[in-house]
Amino acid sequence: MTTLTKTVLNSETIPRVALEFMNNTHFEEIELVKMLGERISAYQLNDAKTENDQQQITQLLADWLQHTQAHFTRENELMIEIHFPMYPVHSGEHERVLDDMTAMVQQWQDKHDTERLAEYVFSTWPNWFDAHVNSMDMVTAQFAVMNGYEG
Ligand SMILES: [Fe+2]
Repeated sequence: MTTLTKTVLNSETIPRVALEFMNNTHFEEIELVKMLGERISAYQLNDAKTENDQQQITQLLADWLQHTQAHFTRENELMIEIHFPMYPVHSGEHERVLDDMTAMVQQWQDKHDTERLAEYVFSTWPNWFDAHVNSMDMVTAQFAVMNGYEG
């Protein structure tokens, strides 16, 4: 097994943006991923893996995917409402990540490749999310507030 440096985000260190509803969604998502990460770590150490253990991970992945879809849709709607000039870039990034995440969930369902799953959950996603909140989300929320958006 390859050794993976785990990045687990938490609500104290994730950058805060100027709109509270966005922060709340980000905190929720971090909590979901934390639960999923704990389940994956336990699964990796489990010598007697059962179908039920797999099923629990599959369920958490489905919840996460659904949360992400709703999260991105709401941000995309906000950008349209405030006529955010970088809408194509920001929403394009959402689309790319959603495609990636969907492919990752699909591979888990097909092959149950735990290493690929762990790589995504402990490295690819947290690194992306932290950088995304700190750039595109930050700028979008700031733009919304400066243009009088009140939620
Ligand atoms: Fe975003």
